[in-house]
Amino acid sequence: MHIIILGAPGAGKGTQADIISKELELPHVSSGDLFRRELEEESEIGLAAKSYMEKGLLVPDDITIRMILERLSETDCVQGCVLDGFPRNLDQARVMDEALDRLNRRIDRAIYIEVPEAELIRRLSGRWLCRVCQTPYHEVSSPPGKPGTCDRCGGALYQRPDDREETIRERLGVFFAETAPLLEHYEQQGKLIRVNGNLGIDEVAGEIVSSLRAQRSYG
Ligand code: AP5
Repeated sequence: MHIIILGAPGAGKGTQADIISKELELPHVSSGDLFRRELEEESEIGLAAKSYMEKGLLVPDDITIRMILERLSETDCVQGCVLDGFPRNLDQARVMDEALDRLNRRIDRAIYIEVPEAELIRRLSGRWLCRVCQTPYHEVSSPPGKPGTCDRCGGALYQRPDDREETIRERLGVFFAETAPLLEHYEQQGKLIRVNGNLGIDEVAGEIVSSLRAQRSYG
């Protein structure tokens, strides 16, 4: 099963993809996490992506698509995965559909997490992430047990450089201009599930799981 998690920056894609991937026992593939890892390793991809990420712009499709298709060809993704942050525009969606088709695989569902803009800004400006396992925390709504330390692996927490207010606004603009058209794309294919993301983390996860069950794609 291949599931896409769609949503504006801060909608909770990473948070929910993490929960859903455990529920479904599928790998969580996050394009943003892959780029941040490449950046930390100062690889060719990381260095090419750096200036776009800092500005809140999309990394060019050729770099992004190559990185994701390589990840999807790894053995743990053969049965499917939960995709977070990819595709981000129609060209990425089309190339992925063609690539999956050649492997006799396909996207089953696209879940859109809807959250009002003021809440997106509140979430991103209070977000902390684990440097080791990437688990997201929020200083108010989901703080770690011990400040600055990941509950899951003990790694140090940090704030993303693109979570500054000016860059958050740029990322939101990019989402509405380039990514939002994907909603119609998946709606036309009968694959789109809309969930109210303006609820607690567990409630949103419950809504996603029950929607997947209702669509007879899960459980
Ligand atoms: P990426 O890492 O994908 O960033 P994003 O889309 O901007 O999304 P975020 O990771 O900021 O938010 P999220 O929706 O995952 O929210 P989270 O769960 O963390 O991309 C970064 C950059 O990489 C892009 O700008 C681009 O440059 C590049 N890139 C990536 N993919 C690309 C692609 N396909 N093509 C080209 N370029 C690409 O939650 C946010 C906070 O809210 C957390 O603190 C969390 O604890 C909290 N929270 C979550 N859910 C709730 C809830 N229900 N209630 C209260 N708080 C909550």
